[in-house]
Amino acid sequence: DMSIKVAPSILSADYLNLQDDVALVEAAGADMLHVDVMDGMFVPSISYGPGWVKALKQVTNLPLDVHLMVEEPERYVDEFAQAGSDIIGVQYEATQHIHRALQMIKNNGVKAEVVINPGTAVELIEPVLDMVDQVLIMTVNPGFGGQKFLPSMLKKIEKLAQIKRDNGYTFDIQIDGGANDETTKLAYEAGATVAVAGSYVYDKVDPAAKIARLKEVTAD
Ligand code: DX5
Ligand code: ZN
Repeated sequence: DMSIKVAPSILSADYLNLQDDVALVEAAGADMLHVDVMDGMFVPSISYGPGWVKALKQVTNLPLDVHLMVEEPERYVDEFAQAGSDIIGVQYEATQHIHRALQMIKNNGVKAEVVINPGTAVELIEPVLDMVDQVLIMTVNPGFGGQKFLPSMLKKIEKLAQIKRDNGYTFDIQIDGGANDETTKLAYEAGATVAVAGSYVYDKVDPAAKIARLKEVTAD
């Protein structure tokens, strides 16, 4: 593609008008919808579960990119797959068995994603990179929307992009946390191919203009 793919995070949407907020970003050219599942254990917050994925699936054609911030995600992979997830992301830190968790996702015919926290080295996921469709580099510590992008994560994106080139991998490299027009441009230059954006898209006015802006600043 000629510019970064944009995945609006509904964490910052208006839950009582969620259908409209989803339709808005779909019409504006969003590439997928980011669904943040938080269990109150892996991260302090509690958000939403498989019922939301099932409901969203009925009102949008956007691929549902489900980010599980959940301890022992293996317990829920099948349920989220059956609910209609198109991509399921599991946190490297949340399971003793990252390889098995990714296998479970693939066995459901769903795209598999591995996620690493800011404090986790990219080298730790090298053994599973041949299994994944997407790698998510957290650019904030997970748990809350509206935090500041951690610039030191750009090095990790570059390192991962290098590993991707060296091995001929085709997975997407996604960033999540603090994405705006400036940080997304930097991440894109470092090798990111998808930007998750919550508060930048949904806070204040005109989500459609925000999506257009992210595409514009990353147009080659
Ligand atoms: C944070 C979530 C993010 C969040 C990003 O734990 O994983 O997806 O929605 O929000 P912003 O874009 O506001 O940093
Ligand atoms: Zn997320």
